[in-house]
Amino acid sequence: MAIIINEQEKTFTLQTNNTAYQMKVNPYGVLLHTYYGKKVPYEDMSYIVDNDMNPNHVVENPKIKGDDVYCAIERLPQEISCYGCGDYRESAINIRNADGSLGLQLVYHSARVEEGKYSIPSLPAFYGKEGETLVITLKDKVYDIYLHLYYGVLAEYDLICRYVKIENKTKNPITVEKALSVTLDLEYGNYDMVSFYGKWAQERLLQRNEIMHGKSQVFSTRGTSGHTMNPFAIICDKSATETQGSAYGLALVYSGSFLISSSKCYYDSTRVVAGINPENFCYVLQPDECFHTPEVAMVYSDEGFGKMSRCFHKAIRNNLCRGKYKNARRPVLINNWEGTYFDFNADKLVAIAEEAAKLGVELFVMDDGWFGRRVNDWGGLGDWSPNEEKLGCTLKELSERINAAGLQFGIWFEPECVNEDSALYEEHPDYAFRMPGRTPALARHQLVLDFSRKDVRENIYQQLKKVLDSANISYVKWDYNRFICDLYSATAGAENQGRVLHEFILGLYELLERLTTEYPDVLFESCASGGGRFDCGMHYYMPQAWTSDDTDAIERIKIQYGTSFCYPVSTMGAHVSTVPNHQTARVTPLSTRGLVASFGTYGLELDLTKASEEEKEEIKRQIAQFKQHYDLIQYGEYYRLISPFDPYSNFCVWSTVASDQSEALVACVRNRNPGNPSPEIVKLFGLDPNKRYTVNGGERKYLGSTLMQNGLRIFVPFGEYTSCLYHVVAAE
Ligand code: GLA
Repeated sequence: MAIIINEQEKTFTLQTNNTAYQMKVNPYGVLLHTYYGKKVPYEDMSYIVDNDMNPNHVVENPKIKGDDVYCAIERLPQEISCYGCGDYRESAINIRNADGSLGLQLVYHSARVEEGKYSIPSLPAFYGKEGETLVITLKDKVYDIYLHLYYGVLAEYDLICRYVKIENKTKNPITVEKALSVTLDLEYGNYDMVSFYGKWAQERLLQRNEIMHGKSQVFSTRGTSGHTMNPFAIICDKSATETQGSAYGLALVYSGSFLISSSKCYYDSTRVVAGINPENFCYVLQPDECFHTPEVAMVYSDEGFGKMSRCFHKAIRNNLCRGKYKNARRPVLINNWEGTYFDFNADKLVAIAEEAAKLGVELFVMDDGWFGRRVNDWGGLGDWSPNEEKLGCTLKELSERINAAGLQFGIWFEPECVNEDSALYEEHPDYAFRMPGRTPALARHQLVLDFSRKDVRENIYQQLKKVLDSANISYVKWDYNRFICDLYSATAGAENQGRVLHEFILGLYELLERLTTEYPDVLFESCASGGGRFDCGMHYYMPQAWTSDDTDAIERIKIQYGTSFCYPVSTMGAHVSTVPNHQTARVTPLSTRGLVASFGTYGLELDLTKASEEEKEEIKRQIAQFKQHYDLIQYGEYYRLISPFDPYSNFCVWSTVASDQSEALVACVRNRNPGNPSPEIVKLFGLDPNKRYTVNGGERKYLGSTLMQNGLRIFVPFGEYTSCLYHVVAAE
């Protein structure tokens, strides 16, 4: 039983394999948050808070003594925080009542347990029949406004998911001005917030800040999760490391504007809230209407970040990603973007594909530039019909030629955007977001289509369907290369503009659901100018995402390192490209580029017709090695051993260990090159201490405990940015 309801003590306890989470209804009906941490036998944990304290707002005629009179609600750890009635800390939910007042006084109403993990109408969410759901309903003291707090427990991964359903049972419209999904009040302790920031070509770089009085936030106001901050954060002990200390991971299952905010509060408690960014959000809820917030998935680990990440990895792989390719081996692909950019025709693509087939590549992806007026990035977006003149043949003929070369055929789309220079825009200028009377700001010469509108989605759906039905297409790269501004929907009406940003995301999800259902055999990969929409929401529809447009191996180890805190290797699109690298001009050995790409989905992005025989031999070897270790790399337990930011090391080292501990791979990349370097030794993790292991087929057999306590000595070839891979195999 993952959910324990103790009627007498009025507690609700969620239990996973290693963690527990508790709430309690206090004598005044207020739902308090009383515990989130390591699993312990059931006890009422509320003794550490003054749970008898009268939060004065809920008592009709308060006869409260002494100090308690002054806004006691602010001194209680809340399970969900609302603005307006005495809690001055950051709120999760703000409701403007029909009378114009802002605020709710929430008291406990009822609770129920449901079998299986809940799903959310129109929104992505972790799933699992093996899970359990607790629904706690709170009601406003005055109006018939209900908050249904949903808790989904996937015990095996220590995953606790939450979302809120706001229900208006009054006779009048009310306005939801803020609808976050989570309040997490930590009653005591000093914490850091670890988050992942960046920009185009430098996504998900790690930063760690102390949570102080005042707010520490990561957020997006871009209408999409974005490059600049990822919708994932960790709240941790000040002493937490990869292997020890408390760490709470919070991952939003949402791809739009978001907010994760933490602050040290009154009496030094810590509050975290997470959900949809309230900026430009305002949702009028009609009588009997409900609003569903997106899901936040939480993992607590008492053994540092590593264990937390491994829980997220398994949960995302097994209970968030869906479809044929969730766990099936995915094809090794070659993409022509960095190889040709816009300068290609069918003959050129087929020539690359033919070379690729000889090396073990299984899928050819035709990137941007095959459609409409698309000769450069100034035109064509929105017109999804092949430019046969440019290609020199039909799409069907091209796909047949690629198939004849022995490869599957894949294609690039950017369905949510439009160029002004396109037939779609000429016919339907109102399909794009633009404010009345203003010239909209272009980014990459394009505008964003109003996907909150059904007719706009239908137009794009019909165009995409026609293409997908016209040829043997096995893969789609779903790109999105700008953020939203000039937000205004031509059809929503003045009063509903505050819904549009969220409904754009709901519209995107609806279209993705439709297409992924209708084309179950197609592998979909998400992309947004590289890793600009790398989030759990997108992974519900697409099992992999292009991690970054930066394909430089030395930059990639930082990007993939940061990404790995939440997202598994199997989600990280990673390609070998040419040197000097197109983003950094750095020259790295092909072996290092291959090693880094193989701790993602491994693909190629270069013109193979220009590669030397020696390079092709090396790529062939890499592909064979990647296929040989596919399961270990994609499904193994991932350990970050030396960070690429570690000032005391010249290496970045990580490993993957088979779940039965029978083998491991240890990858080492030299990212700094001092003269006369000190020896590098790395302690391994996750091996069976009692098993003996060989390293790269050598004679010597090391006890797992030896490799974990005394470490493995790294020998990397002499040279700049060199690397090596150790295969550690149980010998007995
Ligand atoms: C984005 C993507 C690239 C490529 C280009 C094409 O930048 O991240 O991989 O597809 O668009 O325009």
